[in-house]
Amino acid sequence: MTSAFHILHLDSSLTGPASVSRLLSRETVDAWRAADPAVRVTYRDLAVTVPPQPTPETVAALRLRSEPASAQGRADLASINTLLEEFLAADAIVIGAPMYNFGVPTQLKAWIDALAQAGRTFEYTPQGPRGLAGGKRVVIASARGNIYSTPPQMQDKDFQERYLVAALQFMGITHIDVVRAEGVNRGPEVRDAALASARAAIAQLFAVQEAVAP
Ligand SMILES: Cc1cc2nc3c(=O)[nH]c(=O)nc-3n(C[C@H](O)[C@H](O)[C@H](O)COP(=O)(O)O)c2cc1C
Repeated sequence: MTSAFHILHLDSSLTGPASVSRLLSRETVDAWRAADPAVRVTYRDLAVTVPPQPTPETVAALRLRSEPASAQGRADLASINTLLEEFLAADAIVIGAPMYNFGVPTQLKAWIDALAQAGRTFEYTPQGPRGLAGGKRVVIASARGNIYSTPPQMQDKDFQERYLVAALQFMGITHIDVVRAEGVNRGPEVRDAALASARAAIAQLFAVQEAVAP
């Protein structure tokens, strides 16, 4: 028996129903379901079930493969490993990713911190680091108030999309698409154009998928 293609749908915005990244991640998953009704979706809201911050105890436990001494440390380690197993089990991940203060929300950073485990998602070799979690597809549903993708003087201020792509590539993931609404705080016209552009990118993703994967 073959198991259904499994999508992990994540959100991390703290702006509730006003969230643009939540809108785009949901529309991405809806478009995916429309293209392949058999997909199975697991949803996780990182703003609700907040991943633990790394602590000296959890970092030591992961590095030394030891049991944390405190009950809090053991609970944190269990949560971290739940996130890791959920990530490893997914064929694809749709990440709702706002830009906050040039980077990602701390909740999304803590999710990456939970996954970046030596021996599970990457390893170091004499030739350099090697990703161990390849073969997955990722779609980043990105929202940001200002525009960073085109003005050359803004591109190096993007620590949100570029950070996520770098961290996922480090873990071996090469198939990463970004659907982006940027400039959403620059007035209604720019916001409407940004949403239209993101929606066109979502449609394009699944138009391509249907063409290459009958
Ligand atoms: C706490 C906070 C920090 C933000 N920092 C930035 C920023 O550094 N650069 C930017 O362009 N927009 C920034 N914004 C605007 C958001 O990127 C924009 O509102 C986007 O829609 C956020 O995604 P969301 O709607 O899914 O929460 C910030 C918004 C919030 C709430």
